Amino acid sequence: MVSPSADPLLVRALRREPVERTPVWFMRQAGRSLPEYLEVRKLGSLMEITHRPDLAAEVTLQPVRRHGVDAAILFSDIVTPLEAIGVDVEIKAGIGPVVAQPFRSRADLTRLRDFAPAEDMPALAETIKLITAELGPQGIPLIGFCGAPFTLASYLVEGGPSKQQSLTKAMMLSDPELFRDLLTRLARIAAQSLREQVDAGAEAVQVFDSWIGTLSRAQYRDHILPVMRDLFDELAELGVPRTIFGVGTGHLLDLLAETGADCVGVDWRIDLADARRLVPERCALQGNLDPAVLLAPDEVIEAEVRRIVESAPPVGHIFNLGHGVLPETNAETPGKVVRLVRELTSAKATA
Ligand code: CP3
Repeated sequence: MVSPSADPLLVRALRREPVERTPVWFMRQAGRSLPEYLEVRKLGSLMEITHRPDLAAEVTLQPVRRHGVDAAILFSDIVTPLEAIGVDVEIKAGIGPVVAQPFRSRADLTRLRDFAPAEDMPALAETIKLITAELGPQGIPLIGFCGAPFTLASYLVEGGPSKQQSLTKAMMLSDPELFRDLLTRLARIAAQSLREQVDAGAEAVQVFDSWIGTLSRAQYRDHILPVMRDLFDELAELGVPRTIFGVGTGHLLDLLAETGADCVGVDWRIDLADARRLVPERCALQGNLDPAVLLAPDEVIEAEVRRIVESAPPVGHIFNLGHGVLPETNAETPGKVVRLVRELTSAKATA
């Protein structure tokens, strides 16, 4: 038996300490498929909920209560700090963030002032205090998060969601200096948001670079990595484990580790065993069940969960999906996965 220390299971696994079982949580576990979220949502828009500590805390806690996951993730969105500093961004149902006046020139950078959470969004710290008051006694940590500079830039430059990120890449390639300055501003805002979240009680952080997989290795190295290294250096001061995640990043995993992250999130396109060979041993791995598997019959889910547990490294694995819970997922299914991971990995630890 591994004796449990004072730190939460998730935090110990992120630090690659031997653990009594594999921790499990799900990206986008709050909202979307939960009927109890849809009830709260009747009271206001997503943005309105993030400015109401009682509602935001409630929605954050819902998946912990229903699924029994080993961590909560703050209910917010990657564009929330931008909205809080006055960028005209709206979250459109079924679409995502839409920016009224897209960012196209150097003059637009002046619209990205510093984020001062205490004045711009007092609800942020208040929400986290309500959450940790409930979760602390249960030993369940809260994960703070932010959007990574490239993914945020893609929403600002395109004006909304985009498959190819063509306008974003065009800016990156035709005016690399402007693009670098845009990323640097966004990294500063991200760091300011995460600092507030950790100060208020978040015990781990995740940086979502969801759309970074559209870049080549050379593009990532030349245009993104220097800004990400500075960001992760700054986040190191917070003293909590830092995860980096993006979709379709099998070709970038070693470069994502070069940011300095403590844990690399892996999507479902690549085997965990292969990811383990690409990512340096000092990093934990998070992932990587295809979210679509949660729409399949129980026996398919069980086989896929088993396969992932078997291909996972012996230390430093956090079970998760390869991307967010799909909106059409049955609300009972994530809990089944939690129980299965628990059963399979407790057996593995004592075998
Ligand atoms: O577990 C959670 O869901 C916690 C809260 C959370 C939201 N957004 C709330 C939300 C988190 C962690 C995010 C992160 C986020 N937002 C990312 C990174 C993760 C990923 O999925 O890649 C990205 C790219 C966004 C931008 C975004 N926000 C999109 C693309 C969409 C539309 C698709 C969707 O999820 O429906 C949103 C809207 C959004 N963000 C909703 C929620 C609960 C749904 C809309 C609503 O309830 O009004």
